[in-house]
Amino acid sequence: MAEATIWSVGGYAPPHILTNAMLSERMDTSDEWIRTRTGIQERRTAGPDETTASVSARAGQAALESLGFDPGDLDWVLVCTDTPEMWSPATACFVQESLGAKRASAIDLTGGCAGFLQTLQILGPLAASGQNVLVIGTELLTHALDWNDRSTAVLFGDGAGAFLLGPSDRGVSGIRIGPGLSQSDGSQADILGKPYGGTRHNITPDLVAEGKHHTIHMEGQKVFKHAVTMMSDIGRRLIQGANLTLDQIDWVVPHQANQRIIDAVSHQVGIPNERVFSHVAHFANTGSASIGMALADMLDRALLAPGQQLLSVAFGAGFSWASQLFTVDQIPPSRFIHEGSL
Ligand code: ACO
Repeated sequence: MAEATIWSVGGYAPPHILTNAMLSERMDTSDEWIRTRTGIQERRTAGPDETTASVSARAGQAALESLGFDPGDLDWVLVCTDTPEMWSPATACFVQESLGAKRASAIDLTGGCAGFLQTLQILGPLAASGQNVLVIGTELLTHALDWNDRSTAVLFGDGAGAFLLGPSDRGVSGIRIGPGLSQSDGSQADILGKPYGGTRHNITPDLVAEGKHHTIHMEGQKVFKHAVTMMSDIGRRLIQGANLTLDQIDWVVPHQANQRIIDAVSHQVGIPNERVFSHVAHFANTGSASIGMALADMLDRALLAPGQQLLSVAFGAGFSWASQLFTVDQIPPSRFIHEGSL
């Protein structure tokens, strides 16, 4: 029976770099504080002409072009995001049009920072059944920041990562999508999210005057504790359930939340830091985009090799958390666009 496979990978980091030093001119913070608490040195921000759909399309196009795949052959275009183009229609519809995926069905999914792995778990059976699926995780999180909330504003960045998925029996090899786990706890929904502008909390003139109508709310210490506990637990359970040992995991590709969270998870799972990928120093937390961007960067740096087993773990708003195993059958074509300017 065919299995879902990542045929190609694309990534896009917008060219504008926002360093910690630049942030410290804007708010009461410092490079030293941000580096020691989070490991972040800089983040990318989308330019004035960029939107979630255009950034998604850059990553999607990079994935398609690296394989030479005709967008007209796509069956599905999915965008996973918490910062959509607009309320309606789905961001994916704009992307479908811009890529020329003429016969594809397009839809968005929203799941916070764990959303990309949750989405892969939904899409795996679809790809295994023979459908050609482009899934793009994208965030323009710098559009959703309260620049007066220094403990949150320093954490996030913009970007997109895209996987072209298909079945393993079409003569195209790549990274096979293995078993995965995911879980949510809606009783923790108030701790992390973007609460205003939906039907529960309508936007009021007061909220707009305070600049809070579109911003992320986060209780950092609670998020930290839950993120470490849940990602470690769901990572370990997946490894055990798949009858793997820790030394059979060649790489952990974690959600790029911040370096202290990544280090704590690698310690609790029991996999040394050298086998845990992190580029959070340069791209910060890009939410739904982070795992796609991380894989695009790993391929760009030639860190992967056939036969390797990868474990991804993610945690975010909801709370939702997920883990996912991948097997590298063959290095898929990829393109990570990350030219930057200060
Ligand atoms: N610059 C300088 N000082 C700051 C900043 C800043 N950017 N932010 C907060 N501080 C101050 C606080 O005001 C506080 O000052 P006080 O002691 O005078 O009151 C002091 O630093 C300590 O604040 P804490 O909140 O206790 O700092 P903490 O060590 O917990 O670090 C942080 C805060 C980095 C947010 C941490 O809680 C964290 O990493 N949480 C996880 C957040 C996260 O990654 N969220 C991403 C979304 S979810 C996900 O992706 C997993």
